[in-house]
Amino acid sequence: MLDIADFDLNAIGMDYIRNPYPVLRALRDKSPIHRNADGSVFLTRHADVLKVYQSRAMLSDKTEEFGKKFGECPLKTHHTTSLVFNDPPYHTMVRKLLASAFTPRKLAVFEGLIEGIVDRLLDTVEEKGELDLIDDFAKVLPTEIISFMLGIPPEYRQKLRGYSLAILGALDPVVPPERLKAGNEAVTEFTEILTDIIDHRRRNREGAMEGEVLESLIFGEIDGRKLTEEELMQNCIFLLNAGHETTTSLVGNSVGILLNHPDQHRRLLDDPDLITTAVEEFLRYESPLQQGNRMAGEDIDLGDTVLPAGTYIHTSIAAANRDPAVFDDPDRVDLGRKPNKHLAFATGIHICLGATLARVEGRIAIGGLVKRFPKLAANGEARMVPLARFRGYESLPVRVR
Ligand code: HEM
Repeated sequence: MLDIADFDLNAIGMDYIRNPYPVLRALRDKSPIHRNADGSVFLTRHADVLKVYQSRAMLSDKTEEFGKKFGECPLKTHHTTSLVFNDPPYHTMVRKLLASAFTPRKLAVFEGLIEGIVDRLLDTVEEKGELDLIDDFAKVLPTEIISFMLGIPPEYRQKLRGYSLAILGALDPVVPPERLKAGNEAVTEFTEILTDIIDHRRRNREGAMEGEVLESLIFGEIDGRKLTEEELMQNCIFLLNAGHETTTSLVGNSVGILLNHPDQHRRLLDDPDLITTAVEEFLRYESPLQQGNRMAGEDIDLGDTVLPAGTYIHTSIAAANRDPAVFDDPDRVDLGRKPNKHLAFATGIHICLGATLARVEGRIAIGGLVKRFPKLAANGEARMVPLARFRGYESLPVRVR
């Protein structure tokens, strides 16, 4: 039996990664503002995580932390330059440059594109009969969409997940040297590919929807300022990673949940209109991004405890999303759950920019798969991505007949 007082987020192992929920429940019950050995705190209550995300006094800049963690290297340059790990005014500028690509009008156009890709994918699934749900289905759609938005040519697209896992993997609390090496190599290779793509776009301004996001980052100006070359490069890499890795996990985790909860699978088969609330429940129950971080720029009052300015805070989205103070019977999957105030996309000024797009992708991909293949079943041993911050399957063998 784990003594929760001894828990240290910076010393977790594979047991935690395989199934973090019992530990998170114990932390929320007994030590909801938990001190790690390095002085940082790990928050597991919904109210505390929400408060941190909503507070304007919480900082996302990670220059100091990543300097210590990575030293001077491509990973440090990447993670300290992307908008998600920065504060206003730089964060506001990049977010404004990107926002035009995510308006409801643009997303309506994407629905048609998504439906077309999913239809083609489902035909391939039918032909195969047996497949790896991640490689053959879940990762393809988000990779196609984000590559379309950034104008990444098809020949590079299959490399994206490897790069993304290597780069995002370096954000885990515990990072072995070989993962650091892989992360640095991924940033370097990715940069070389993007340099060519950006050069080409500079010389051939097309004004088309394909590559529109890249164009906006290259040519856009906010208050008379453009992105520098480094800012342009690192935000492209971030967006490519953010746009597909988490959505791949949404689709994979959803299928995993259905296979492990046959009653809910049946429910969705009987009532396909449940798909909208079902996607919210999938996001809540197995959140693709399980935790975040902030630095307290000012003292923050969490009711029973005041965390002083300068405290490094880890927010557990996964624990917040199973907090019984907010969700009835939180460890039960209920595809009709409403309301469902999960924090899978965080909230506040860094709230996920791609949340609507991810929801549409999830609804069309998961809804389409379940409807077309009522006999969808597990077909061998599944394997999880061995990371704590990001939760998803590396491999999920299924059959559809
Ligand atoms: C199920 C899929 C997704 C999940 C669970 C997810 C989750 C999140 C979360 C929790 C954050 C906040 C991180 C923080 O502040 O610490 C975030 C930020 C972000 N996400 Fe997503 N995301 C998803 C899909 C996408 C997609 C499809 C895109 C783009 C195409 C995207 C683009 C972004 C961007 C640009 C940010 C940074 C926003 C900022 O710093 O202002 N995400 N995402």
